[in-house]
Amino acid sequence: MIELLQSFARRLLWLPSRFLRWGFPGVENPMNHLGSLTIFFCWIVLISGIWLLIFFRTSVSGAFESLEYLTHQQWYLGGIMRSLHRYASDAMIVTIALHIFHEFSRNTYRVTRWFSWVAGLPLVWIVFILGISGYWLVWDELAQYVAITSSELLDAIPIFTSKMAANFLQDTSLSDRFFTLMAFLHLVGLPIFLVFGIWLHVFRLSSPRINPPKRLMAGTLLAMLVLALLFPAVSQDQANLAQAPQTLQLDWFYLHVFPLVQIWSPGWVWVLLTGISALILFAPWLPPGKAVKSAHVDLDNCNGCQRCADDCPYGAIQVVPRSDGKRYEHEVVVEADLCTSCGICVGACPTATPFRKRSPLVPGIDLPRSSAQVLKESIDEATATFPLVLSIACTGSPELAWLESNNKAVVAVSCVGQIPPSYLDYILSRNLSARILLTGCGGGCRHRFGMDWAEQRISRERDPNLRRRVGAHRIAMAWREPWSSLGGLKKQVAALEKQAQEDNR
Ligand code: HEM
Ligand code: SF4
Ligand code: SF4
Repeated sequence: MIELLQSFARRLLWLPSRFLRWGFPGVENPMNHLGSLTIFFCWIVLISGIWLLIFFRTSVSGAFESLEYLTHQQWYLGGIMRSLHRYASDAMIVTIALHIFHEFSRNTYRVTRWFSWVAGLPLVWIVFILGISGYWLVWDELAQYVAITSSELLDAIPIFTSKMAANFLQDTSLSDRFFTLMAFLHLVGLPIFLVFGIWLHVFRLSSPRINPPKRLMAGTLLAMLVLALLFPAVSQDQANLAQAPQTLQLDWFYLHVFPLVQIWSPGWVWVLLTGISALILFAPWLPPGKAVKSAHVDLDNCNGCQRCADDCPYGAIQVVPRSDGKRYEHEVVVEADLCTSCGICVGACPTATPFRKRSPLVPGIDLPRSSAQVLKESIDEATATFPLVLSIACTGSPELAWLESNNKAVVAVSCVGQIPPSYLDYILSRNLSARILLTGCGGGCRHRFGMDWAEQRISRERDPNLRRRVGAHRIAMAWREPWSSLGGLKKQVAALEKQAQEDNR
């Protein structure tokens, strides 16, 4: 059932990613950077917010007028800043929603990866409350509607003794102090929670990608500026508590539940919101994912070089002082509750080499379910009849399924980052195959850095790297975006087979 929903989510994501790849092809596709794009929008909101704050007056009578001044008299800067502030806030809702969908579709939120998902939920609440409190500060008719409706919502919670909605019965009952409190919440309190929340959200990941690619940032900012110039953000009529607003233009990104308060009742809106939150909160265990067997360290074969710790995408490897009396300074320890069994550490370990005489092959770090020894045996088996192309593909990927069903020589790995460069050397220098194709899920690598590390090791930018005697031109890579078709892979396999045949002539 869950796989069906995930595959449905992938299909839904296919459309925006196809559209966006015209402007941002390959790894730069915004769908690969939804978390970092959200942070980029936060920056725009923060910087434009600082400009607005300089001119904003935190009083009931001054708020509306100060924003009118910025919008009309200072349209060339204050007006643009206001529009950027609004549109970047709206964009955050879109990127957060797509980010949740994207992570769900890639199954990156279960078993040992539950933490970022669960820590993401408070971020949604903070961003919504930030946006809603921002609409209060404009103090126009929309603000009046938002203030009254959110007070009705809050009054439905039995913990409040005095009724908040009473503040909005008439202009005189709304105090400047109350307004300043709202401004403090929006300008200081909630942003601090947001920054702390984002830190908590990514703190278990190693090297979290918090900045999108430069071209993507530039393109996004440009699009926002164009939007700000074409459709400047404006206020509606000034709030007047003596009369109910007649026509309102709702911001559907932030305020979509507000009409429900009138159509249903505040109580039912809370039922809906807590229901959706509970669903997100418990999603990693609905149903619980299959437990993984974590990587294990063999101290007899570990020289404490720390490469595995540097390459682990989940910070699951700790470097500690040596405990077995060997002359090395360090050893490594795997934290089982962080390990996803991706095998990237095995690809980083210099002792994981098929050239070792010792049998069975036991490297410093290994996966219990698909060990370095098993990997070597699979390669030997797949190359027994000298295939022109040997493909190496991730377990469970559509690439693997296609290669197997088309009788191509293929070896399955947990992640392409699991394959140590010495194995590629082994295949080519022993002439087990003419060409190697590494294939996986590209910019959307499910294990974050598998593709990057594989590429960097082959291009000799990262240790352990491919030895110079191996012609890197004999190794090709086909990284498919998770939502795109297998067309590119098919073409690349055919091209490699052709090249190998020409080599043989
Ligand atoms: C303000 C809102 C949010 C921001 C700024 C944000 C940002 C990020 C960033 C920067 C990453 C790291 C990407 C990487 O380096 O691989 C990430 C990962 C992730 N986020 Fe968010 N996120 C937000 C909200 C959420 C929400 C609401 C959820 C889900 C309920 C969520 C679920 C995840 C998951 C599952 C990962 C991947 C963790 C892993 O690879 O193990 N995020 N997010
Ligand atoms: S298998 Fe993956 S998650 Fe586990 S220790 Fe190795 S690199 Fe880290
Ligand atoms: S990469 Fe291998 S040798 Fe180096 S510290 Fe890790 S397990 Fe030990």
